[in-house]
Amino acid sequence: MLKAKKILLCVTGSIAAYKAVYLLRLLQRDGASVRIVMTKEATNFVSSLTFSTLSKERVLIDFTENDNWENHALLGRWADLILIAPASCNTIALMAHGICNNLLQAVYLSATCPVMLAPAMDEDMWKHPATQRNIQQLIHDGIKVLDVAEGELASGLFGKGRMIEPEEVFKEVIHFFSKKERFVGKKILVTAGPTVEPIDPVRFISNHSSGKMGVAIADAFVAEGGVVTLVHGPMTEKVEKGINEVSVQTAQEMYSSCLKELSTFDIIVMAAAVADYSPAEKSNEKIKKTQDFLRIDLKKTPDILAEAGKRKKENQILIGFALETENGVENALKKLDKKNADFIILNSLRDQGAGFGKDTNKISIFGKKGFRKDFPLKSKRELAYDILNLISQHP
Ligand code: CTP
Repeated sequence: MLKAKKILLCVTGSIAAYKAVYLLRLLQRDGASVRIVMTKEATNFVSSLTFSTLSKERVLIDFTENDNWENHALLGRWADLILIAPASCNTIALMAHGICNNLLQAVYLSATCPVMLAPAMDEDMWKHPATQRNIQQLIHDGIKVLDVAEGELASGLFGKGRMIEPEEVFKEVIHFFSKKERFVGKKILVTAGPTVEPIDPVRFISNHSSGKMGVAIADAFVAEGGVVTLVHGPMTEKVEKGINEVSVQTAQEMYSSCLKELSTFDIIVMAAAVADYSPAEKSNEKIKKTQDFLRIDLKKTPDILAEAGKRKKENQILIGFALETENGVENALKKLDKKNADFIILNSLRDQGAGFGKDTNKISIFGKKGFRKDFPLKSKRELAYDILNLISQHP
């Protein structure tokens, strides 16, 4: 499987450095060409001689050796994958902040290939908000961050933070090279779930959206190598670890979050059920039951999809949904035109098995120049892949 694959295995200062020795053997046995970069701290745990003997290559530690300068830019370009295992708390922090104070960091910052890392540290360090912030930053930057394991830690404490076993890292590498990678290098924005518009501190206006369709689309993009930002309203759906998750409440918040970096996205899929109206004023106190009739003035929320349509760049692909109860096709086509979308995905609340909270959906996709494709009732996960197939064929 890994024959002809070039992997740069980077080892950093952690007791888990010994696991990298086993990992090297697994990668080599499967046919990969592996070169090793170590930080100085890593050499305190495992000798560079161990790695150079096994890899039959010089281990790279410093910027210079015997008056020779290591070409970090070429190293990053040589590799099909940079695998940092174990990745110490310090290395993760340096990467997140773009600090270049050792050869590994220079290779990372000049790399053009995908990067995967397996964190290793004590539980307190792993759970610290600063580390979690750094991890989120790396995910946002498109780094594949593997999970940590629970067990006995170097400190003698028991908890989360151990590097996962070499066999598990190896499996992730195999998975990485075997999956379809139609969206590698693509930045994708997906919206999902409902928005919640407060009336007073107790009540709100919202809808029944579960976020399932949007989450299935975000998951499918990540599985195919995309760098995904998911902006979602309140929902119980679990979001994959590799997704850059932005959680919002109101339509206005969703609008602001989406517009922040809108021009940087290659593909935008708006699956959220955004509230069309929001109370014109939110009462700071709970509204008391004093009148027989209560009138609440509502004002229109900003239309995120329409705004994205206005700002659409030439190579951006913009997709919206249309949820209808009547005149589905007519309304979907109107939205396609009015919102300047490339595709509108129509789902009807009238179709059995389709709509809010269900695991299945029935959709028709409408595009420019009379394009139309109807799909039978399917799981939302399967439909997500149908949508990806369509996008990947879009010129
Ligand atoms: N949408 C949006 N911002 C809004 C309202 C809708 O981005 N304020 C997006 C939805 O995410 C969806 C598409 O627009 O992709 C269509 O949403 P839908 O609710 O079906 O239509 P509306 O534009 O709200 O029009 P109407 O309620 O009249 O059907």
